[in-house]
Amino acid sequence: MPESTASDAPRSVNDLNPFVPAPAGPKRVRTRHFSNAKQHGIPITGLTSYDMLTAQIFDQAGIDFLLVGDSAGNNVFGYETTLPVTVDELIPLTRAVARAVTRALVVADMPFGSYETGQTEALHTAVRFMKEAQAHAVKLEGGVRSHKQIKRIVTSGIPVMAHIGFTPQSEHGLGGHIIQGRGDAAEQLLEDALAVQDAGAFAVVLEMVPATVAAEVTSKLEIPTIGVGAGPDVDGQLLVWTDFAGMTEGRVPRFVRQYANVRSVLTDAVHQFKSDVETGVYPGPEHSYE
Ligand code: KIV
Repeated sequence: MPESTASDAPRSVNDLNPFVPAPAGPKRVRTRHFSNAKQHGIPITGLTSYDMLTAQIFDQAGIDFLLVGDSAGNNVFGYETTLPVTVDELIPLTRAVARAVTRALVVADMPFGSYETGQTEALHTAVRFMKEAQAHAVKLEGGVRSHKQIKRIVTSGIPVMAHIGFTPQSEHGLGGHIIQGRGDAAEQLLEDALAVQDAGAFAVVLEMVPATVAAEVTSKLEIPTIGVGAGPDVDGQLLVWTDFAGMTEGRVPRFVRQYANVRSVLTDAVHQFKSDVETGVYPGPEHSYE
């Protein structure tokens, strides 16, 4: 085998799927591609999605995984936190996203109250997301404390993405949106990371942790780390789509880069439509039937 050169070395998770040669069209991203990506130093990309249209756009743009996050609690249902959102509310959103994609791995977020009491409850919830929503994997929060639940789900054949650091479902216990893993707490973060790896998680989200700590955890893990406010030295990056696209009203977290201002585009369009209707400009003859 000739050594790979800069031009033929894998550049995206897509290049690591051996079943369909690039660029022949859609290929399904599998959990093993996450581990290949880490081995080859290929950054993994993820966005949240809660509906068919955004899922199509993100999938067609080559985003590797879509998380139907419990952040839908805020961004779809208008709750103040993620705590009230239920499995029954998230299942139809997950189904819509899963039906829309041809390539991206769809991860269903297990909401607060759907896995904490034990392994049986956790497996039951995971099975619902796989069966009723056709998700490809589930995500749940917690490190050491969620070890048993992750292990039970994984041994039943369901891939699990873990989530440690700042875990929004525990925001009241953590005392608010506070950076995790600073100082002595870095040791606990590493313990949590090793625990979820040991339980069989295929990847772990690190949310709001210092960049140096995230880098250290990433170097010690075999599974990929996905950063949300964890700096550049992780194996992938995940953002909430309404934040990154500028749909969210008000402040977004410091770690978010806004790549568009969809809210202002939509606001301008709505004002224009209202004004056109009120002044009789719309509909014109070209929008009317003979
Ligand atoms: O629900 C969500 O959007 C999340 C990400 C912030 C990790 O859990």
